[in-house]
Amino acid sequence: MLRIVVIAVCLVSNFALAAEYIGSKGAVASRSTIASEVGRDILKMGGNAIDAAVATGFALAVTYPSAGNIGGGGFAVLRLEDGSTYSLDFRETAPLALKPDHFLDESGEVVSERLTLHPLGCGVPGSVSGLLALHDRFGSLPLKDLITPAIELAKKGFPLSAALVESFKKQMKYMKSYPASSAVFSNQGEPFEVQHVWTQPDLAKTLKRIQKKGVDGFYRGKTADLLIAEIDAGGGVMTRGDLVAYQSKWREPIIGSYRNYQIISMPPPSSGGVLLVHILQMLEQVVPKPWRDVDTVHLLIEAERLAYADRSVHLGDPDSNDLPMEELLSAGYAKKRFNKILMNRANVSDQLGAGRFPEESPETTHYSVMDAQGNSVSVTTTLNWAYGNKRVVNGAGFLLNNEVDDFAVQAGVPNSYGLLGNEKNLVRGGRRMLSSMSPTIIVGPEGSITVLGSPGGSTIITTVLQVILNLVDHEMTLNLAVQAPRFHHQWKPDRVFFEPLGYFPSLVQELEQRGHRGLVKRERPIGDVNAIQFRNGHFSAVTDPRFDALPAVY
Ligand code: DON
Repeated sequence: MLRIVVIAVCLVSNFALAAEYIGSKGAVASRSTIASEVGRDILKMGGNAIDAAVATGFALAVTYPSAGNIGGGGFAVLRLEDGSTYSLDFRETAPLALKPDHFLDESGEVVSERLTLHPLGCGVPGSVSGLLALHDRFGSLPLKDLITPAIELAKKGFPLSAALVESFKKQMKYMKSYPASSAVFSNQGEPFEVQHVWTQPDLAKTLKRIQKKGVDGFYRGKTADLLIAEIDAGGGVMTRGDLVAYQSKWREPIIGSYRNYQIISMPPPSSGGVLLVHILQMLEQVVPKPWRDVDTVHLLIEAERLAYADRSVHLGDPDSNDLPMEELLSAGYAKKRFNKILMNRANVSDQLGAGRFPEESPETTHYSVMDAQGNSVSVTTTLNWAYGNKRVVNGAGFLLNNEVDDFAVQAGVPNSYGLLGNEKNLVRGGRRMLSSMSPTIIVGPEGSITVLGSPGGSTIITTVLQVILNLVDHEMTLNLAVQAPRFHHQWKPDRVFFEPLGYFPSLVQELEQRGHRGLVKRERPIGDVNAIQFRNGHFSAVTDPRFDALPAVY
């Protein structure tokens, strides 16, 4: 049985269409319709949700290159049919030789371009190791079948959507200095036409090497040589040894609860799961009020402020730090922090340095997969900024990431998301940089399972949080929960960013009366949630109406 419900809602230009697809055997929701369909076809072939996630991941590397690229890294959270839970960390790692000094000028000032637009800013990529590790442990179909659709898409091409053409066009100013990038993302220096059949022959060859040799097809041999040649040409410090040493890591997921819902999410080196559970435990101290009641919004801003302050001080790579996980996840600590919230007055984040937010639109991507056996997979993956470092590896067809910017170079100096860090997240060779990515699965008391996640840098956690609150406290359908306008606060800068439709004048006025400063209407959307909910025997798959992709169901 396949039923498709498409709800057209003309809200603002960013919010055109909320699509909810309903299936009975499985579903894939990703930021690329083609990639969703690739995953759905794997389910149809008899593959499980893990197979479909791996195939979707490789397809996104071809059809959604700004973020789905194999040059980056990410995290996956799984809940299998028997209720067991897992999480996989395939986050990039700092090359062994990398030091904070690489990012400082002679007077000790941070040179942010070296973090974001230079091969020094590129972490050792984890995506290929991660996708193959998922397949090794839980896949059921041969790996070959899961990579073939991506190879075909890269080799034979696919018609470019207006959104991709526009997205490539915006990158031309960065990419024109890099011939390999221009060769891939422009038509000999000119923008592509919409519907142009876009092929990526070098990427097809790289994917073929991975298909043939597994991890060695990426981390050794020709692909590794091409990657290191690109890094060397630009003055980076990553070596072949760094590539060979890369390992993705299975970690215990964060498991918490919120009003009888089980929350399964990503542990460090992501801050996502810890902050989600900690904030939810603070919010659980009160009976929820309506969705945009000023008390609801005030409380959420204050809880976010407190939690992001802790993020900056207490979190980093778990393998090189002792992290106070028990404390941060305990109900007692959440209560203690909650007691700092005054309902009639905003707290003041210390005005330490001016926070910054990126002007451009950086990107990451999330995809969710569920199958008929009851397996659920939640994956968020990124190059950090859209198109990462903007440099395509000559001859290999994939982009370098700029994930090193997620480290702190100096305490008190914000990264490109305005996030602060201390020594636990300082740049150090071999470390993994702290992330906000929050692939999550929630299990309801009535047996529903929801898989969700989002891009958005520092706004990822508050985006996922608001969708959970919309589902649990405000009893919205998945479709509405994803569609509802969002806002964000992160301690510093001491500002609240609202999506335009959520910037209600009366709400803003009431928040100002409570002392909230810097209430900003942000034109760019916050987050991009691709989610699936299994409930009453069917799968409801939703892609975020802020963007143009559709889910695929079976
Ligand atoms: O890992 C992180 O938290 C960031 N590198 C994610 C970047 C991101 O989401 C950009 N997307 N819009």
